[in-house]
Amino acid sequence: MRVLMVCLGNICRSPLAEGILKHKVYQRGLQWQVDSAGTGAWHVGEQPDPRSIDVAQRFGIDITDQRARQFDPQDFERFDLILAMDRQILRQLQQMATHPEHRRKIRLLLDVVHPGQGQEVPDPYYGGSEGFEKVFRLIDTACDRLLAEYGPQ
Ligand code: 4NP
Repeated sequence: MRVLMVCLGNICRSPLAEGILKHKVYQRGLQWQVDSAGTGAWHVGEQPDPRSIDVAQRFGIDITDQRARQFDPQDFERFDLILAMDRQILRQLQQMATHPEHRRKIRLLLDVVHPGQGQEVPDPYYGGSEGFEKVFRLIDTACDRLLAEYGPQ
């Protein structure tokens, strides 16, 4: 399984999602490929936000090696599952997807926890560190469900 996590800047939410899923995949000895990207280009080449690095560190996950990159339409071919953190990202990805088979790869991350409800991972960029902890917990639960749904039975 090849999974791409997508948010706006690729510095707050999707780097956490990449780090958390990679951690769980490693713990389970699976061979999944996991990456992340942002639909925006403002932070390309940057490390994750220090608040994301901190919360990951507190839960034993190191995301300092990550560097932000922008989503590339080629990613529709490179990944099996493209997971959007919120509905704005979902719409942006759907607009970029020109083939029905590409559109079918796109899903809201929290749809794996609460199917059909349109729930979002809130953008924590302008808030405090408690927002990052909430984001961590939402993504952590979603990654467990993701592995249950798409992993070996
Ligand atoms: P992210 O958070 O999409 O979770 O990485 C944001 C980071 C930067 C900006 C917006 C959201 N920004 O506007 O620069």
